[in-house]
Parts: sequence; structure tokens; C-alpha cells
Amino acid sequence: MSIDVFISEDQIQKRIKELGEEISRDYKGEEVIVVGVLNGSFMFCADLVRVLKFPVITEFMAAASYGEGTTTSGDVKILLDIKTDIEGKHVLFIEDIVDTGHTFKKILAMIEKRNPKSVRIASLLSKPARREHHIDIDYLAFEIEDKFVIGYGLDLGGKYRELPYIGVYNPEAN
Ligand code: IMP
Repeated sequence: MSIDVFISEDQIQKRIKELGEEISRDYKGEEVIVVGVLNGSFMFCADLVRVLKFPVITEFMAAASYGEGTTTSGDVKILLDIKTDIEGKHVLFIEDIVDTGHTFKKILAMIEKRNPKSVRIASLLSKPARREHHIDIDYLAFEIEDKFVIGYGLDLGGKYRELPYIGVYNPEAN
């Protein structure tokens, strides 16, 4: 078993700089509460906030969905909530991957009850072929086909998050 590089470290970092420019233009002069969705987004969030050219309040939420192996179920639990009052504030979520959309359906339903001024999503990856709920992704780094990826925050059973690139298994290699 080996891991093939699917999206390289250079490609990721280049795209993050581009997204940072775009997000910075859109929120110029505004105060924004950035919410990293743990665990998978920790690396993307750390890199993205460092290229934003406006001050942010950084918060974290944690969500977990209990599915089998590499698939997620609709049973999403919020394990950690933000502490900041978001009423009348701009909220920007930072996520590793939008797959079925179950996680964001749950998070958005909860957040919208708190009357934020706006809610946007920045996601590293999106797998539109697997979507079960429509989710508007405002800032997307890469759209990918339906394959299970690891690295750069994304895990398989807690492993491989530390890789600086996004990879896929190559079961044929030894
Ligand atoms: P959703 O609720 O189906 O949109 O799934 C969101 C979560 O599933 C992500 O935040 C990831 O933690 C996990 N996930 C979905 N696809 C992958 C993948 O290809 N690799 C690793 N984790 C994934």
C-alpha cells in the first residue's frame, strides 16, 4: 500500500493564496468571525487565516457524523460549539470537505437561529457527486471526483492528517 499525491503541497498553497485574496476583497473593512470546523479543517484553517488581509475572530466548532468506515451518515452531532455571540456579525465557516452535505445542513440550521448578518462557507474540497443536501460553497479551493482522500487535515481513522498534501491510496503499490 502506498499513498499517491493527488493535490500537491504547492498546488494547495497557491490556491489558498488566491482564495485569501478573493475573501479579503469581499470582506474589506468588515469584522468577520471565522469558524474552523474541526477536526479536518485545522490545517486549511491555519493556512487560510494567515493570508487574510483583515482582522478576524477565530473560533472552532467540532462536528462528527457516525457512519461506517469511509461513508458518513445523516446523524451529525455538534461536539463543540462557538463561544462568541454572532448576532448581527459576519460568519465565515472553514471546512475541509463538503461531501454529502449532512454536516453543513446541521451546522447552518443551528447557526441561522442566532441571526448572524451573513453566513458563508470556505471549503478546501467538494465532492458534488456525493451531495444529498444542496450546500452553497462561497469559496472552494478544489472540486474533486468521488474518491476518498487523506492528508492535509483529512483522516482515515485519525491517521494521515499531518501530510502536507492531499493523497489517495494506491492499493496496487507495495
Ligand atoms: P458530509 O457531512 O458528508 O458533507 O461530510 C463531511 C465530513 O466527512 C468531512 O468534514 C470529513 O471529515 C468527512 N469526509 C468526507 N469525505 C472525506 C474524504 O474523502 N476523506 C476524509 N474525510 C472525508
